[in-house]
Amino acid sequence: MSATPFQHTTVLLTEAIDSLVHTPDGVYVDGTFGRGGHSRALLARLSPKGRLVAIDRDVQAIEAATSGETRVSDPRFSIHHTSFAQLRDTLAEQGITRIDGLLLDLGVSSPQIDDPERGFSFRFDGPLDMRMDTTRGESAAEFLARADERHITEVIRDYGEERFALQIAKALVARRESGNPVRTTGELSKLVAGAVKTREAGQDPATRTFQALRIFVNAELEELEQGLNAAMDLLAPGARLVVISFHSLEDRIVKTFIARESKSVIDRRAPFAPEKPHRLKSIARIKPGEAEVRANPRARSAIMRVAERTDVGVAAGGPSAGPLPSRPASPRGTGRGTSADEGSK
Ligand SMILES: C[S@@+](CC[C@H](N)C(=O)[O-])C[C@H]1O[C@@H](n2cnc3c(N)ncnc32)[C@H](O)[C@@H]1O
Repeated sequence: MSATPFQHTTVLLTEAIDSLVHTPDGVYVDGTFGRGGHSRALLARLSPKGRLVAIDRDVQAIEAATSGETRVSDPRFSIHHTSFAQLRDTLAEQGITRIDGLLLDLGVSSPQIDDPERGFSFRFDGPLDMRMDTTRGESAAEFLARADERHITEVIRDYGEERFALQIAKALVARRESGNPVRTTGELSKLVAGAVKTREAGQDPATRTFQALRIFVNAELEELEQGLNAAMDLLAPGARLVVISFHSLEDRIVKTFIARESKSVIDRRAPFAPEKPHRLKSIARIKPGEAEVRANPRARSAIMRVAERTDVGVAAGGPSAGPLPSRPASPRGTGRGTSADEGSK
């Protein structure tokens, strides 16, 4: 199978790589490969000794990395079909216990949004799916076909910050009870447009509902928390954590996490010594410049946060990684691992 022809324009490309790479010989993780814009730039920055482990939960992203013209053919690179929430296990299976940097460019890629078959967008009519990993889990249509009014209201209100969540949920349940549940993106956006009474300037009335269902179906916020927690055990002292968010719910999690992990601590054995930042030191908060937003409107809501791992709480350990295995094992229960050179089809 070949990858979809849809293109993705990478957001904050140079800024992310500049922030991430501090040792060209290091082991780096791109937890959100997408179409590999960041991964390719990262490989260009690494020395022959460097190594890049990429992850994506979308089968089409894995196909883009391993087949056809978009294939990444580099012995320093491997890609794994799994979630970044499974980071620890995925890396352990590669013999990696320490990394020098982790990049998370959150959310969906343009190929996912622009393909009507994936059901992410109200701009195209297609099946109401919205799963990033189509090999598992429940689609948005399946959720709306079984959930009660209260649950649907909570999802749309909490993940979409939608004032008309109750009205939308009522309309969805009424339609379902009349024997005609929503099955397509077109049906959902029409139903939402009828239930949302006041319009936000420049925004489709379905924007918030689509965002909410996507976040819920993919457990995006829980995944993010798990990924950040897993990173703390893996980042070596001096390693960088770089996270690009596209909405306030994600950014709030990243910001709170970095703030909590950056609180200074007093060394009890040396109470008069200067306080040390805790496990992270916050380094930067970067937004795309005007030129980037003009060229790529999808960049307008991006916020990148950068933090550096301190040496607090790092167990003394050996090297971060052994040599590249000739055949990476499949991540447990999540799919497959593929080094670039064996992925050619
Ligand atoms: C914004 S795109 C990344 C684009 C990429 N940086 C590029 O330049 O091509 C986000 C990607 O992350 C993937 N993704 C989102 N959440 C994920 C998760 N929890 N685990 C693994 N991949 C995830 C999506 O499937 C999507 O392909």
